[in-house]
Amino acid sequence: MTERLTIRRPDDWHVHLRDGGMLGAVAGYTARSFARAIVMPNLNPPVTGAEAAGAYRTRIMGALPAGSDFTPLMTLYLTDAADPGEIERGFAAGAFTAAKLYPAHATTNSAHGVTDLRNIFPALETMQRIDMPLLVHGEVTDPDIDVFDREKVFIERVFTKLVRDFPDLRIVFEHITTAEAAEFVASSGPNIAATVTPQHLVINRNAMFAGGLRPHAYCLPVAKREAHRQAIRRAATSGSPKFFLGTDSAPHAVERKESGCGCAGIFNAPFALESYAQVFEEEGALDRFEAFASENGPRFYRLPLNSGTVTLERAPVTVPERLRADGTWVVPFHAGETLRWRLVETG
Ligand code: NCD
Ligand code: ZN
Repeated sequence: MTERLTIRRPDDWHVHLRDGGMLGAVAGYTARSFARAIVMPNLNPPVTGAEAAGAYRTRIMGALPAGSDFTPLMTLYLTDAADPGEIERGFAAGAFTAAKLYPAHATTNSAHGVTDLRNIFPALETMQRIDMPLLVHGEVTDPDIDVFDREKVFIERVFTKLVRDFPDLRIVFEHITTAEAAEFVASSGPNIAATVTPQHLVINRNAMFAGGLRPHAYCLPVAKREAHRQAIRRAATSGSPKFFLGTDSAPHAVERKESGCGCAGIFNAPFALESYAQVFEEEGALDRFEAFASENGPRFYRLPLNSGTVTLERAPVTVPERLRADGTWVVPFHAGETLRWRLVETG
């Protein structure tokens, strides 16, 4: 008998859907597996207001394949000029679900990010009062700090102060990559949670240098040492409600990855759920997969659990080497590999 795993329909609590032709090419992959997704606002220009979020939401709905049952949850991009009034009105109206903090120049399209946390104190005070989640890209940008230490130093220099100054603010530490981040989240109050990507569960930093330079294994925060990957795996599969699924799927055209200065971002949307399932199986934690994928996120965001289900079947599925997108190609995470679980049905 084939082995099947049916879970409540999951959500992706961190995704880059892009815009224009790329949006049209990638939105369907996310909608195939996930009922909802927290959509990152790092477009060019960034999504800094309710009107822009609404227009982007409309473009996303227009880009979905016919028959999709998918709800994008929009986010606001915090800048030094973030307007607390706009945040409060937009949140009340449902224009956005959360706001994203990118330290300026930390990652792709973050040039308009926050240069000093003090600049957004009024916005954070408002968010704390209205109970609106803050999503944090947790890396310092100080060029003197080694790129592999930027998350750890962010915890020391920024996150501890943030939690001290805004003790009731709900914060998601996005795409954690270190043992220190897992420990920080686990030992903080219930208002602090984290998303975990498939790549940080699957690869360590060696993957970027396996036999040569591997741009498709490069994302930010960059993958760390094996000991950190192990710590992230333990946290994600621990059963703690503080850790939940967020793919950070971040497509870039192949020529922008395979370049003298390649973009950061791993496009994992096509097989993200299958990749996570394999990790949970390897950790002997398939019984905790549903909580990670489908329950912990909505509970943290205070949204209803999805009513449908998805079914994975234990059957080999080979990930294509590349996929057509916007007149070019994108290379998916796990390209050319065979995964052990296959998504067969959404009910
Ligand atoms: C993301 C992107 O390309 O937008 N890249 C990435 O490496 N994760 C931005 C981000 O989430 O840091
Ligand atoms: Zn991201």
